[in-house]
Amino acid sequence: MRAIRVFDSLSSLSRAVAEQFVEAARDAIAARGRFVVALSGGSTPRTLYEQLAAPGFADRIDWTKLLVLWGDERCVNPDDPRSNYGLARSALLDHVPIPGSNVRRIEGERGPHAAADDYERVLGEVFGLHAGRGEMPCFDLILLGLGKDGHTASLFAGSPALREEKRWAVDVTMADMDPRVPRVTLAIPVLNAARRVWFLVSGQGKREALRAVMRGAPVHSAPYPAGLVRPRGELVWFVDEAAAFPGMPTA
Ligand code: 6PG
Repeated sequence: MRAIRVFDSLSSLSRAVAEQFVEAARDAIAARGRFVVALSGGSTPRTLYEQLAAPGFADRIDWTKLLVLWGDERCVNPDDPRSNYGLARSALLDHVPIPGSNVRRIEGERGPHAAADDYERVLGEVFGLHAGRGEMPCFDLILLGLGKDGHTASLFAGSPALREEKRWAVDVTMADMDPRVPRVTLAIPVLNAARRVWFLVSGQGKREALRAVMRGAPVHSAPYPAGLVRPRGELVWFVDEAAAFPGMPTA
């Protein structure tokens, strides 16, 4: 199932996502006793995280039943302003009663290879799986952003990581990637194994990338990375009017 929802502002977009997050958490906890979510990085989700931490949303979530992981991370210290974990910690996790053991960050400071290996271990623990056996972690929800170049998570056009079919987490050390900080990212098959994938896209700067991704335009003779995200479960694009393009499909 795919849906595209357009909002007049990032604030109203984030409020709608927060409302859906509460419902998705409630449904997952009722069905499986927990809600396993991979958060996104970048700047767009900050408003969402702040809203989830506020009364009206935070008090409607059983944080003891949430497991919070990440779709990707930069290989920096957790207190580095570029850290995706640091963003979520300051905007959300420090303000809600989630047990520390329920937060499983990517330890980017270990460096890309060691951090990816360690994150694979964490994913195996969280999902009770053994890497390399063809099983895929099934997140209840993965939040994603969209870069102006059509990347998502830390999956960039032309990256070998796009072809990864076995590993769950991969290191990204592309020299031409900007900012030039190595990263760790979930691989495409894990994104596509999720029950729900939500893209949050805001700002006029994303309009062309959104148009290209939605129209299946190629880059480097392959689809844009975000265009490779075709989950078996639900895919919802939360887009603000500034990022929406004329003639954009609404479903
Ligand atoms: C990251 C994100 C990345 C982000 C997009 C959009 O680590 O940078 O995972 O995929 O979502 O680049 O970033 P903005 O929200 O800052 O535009």
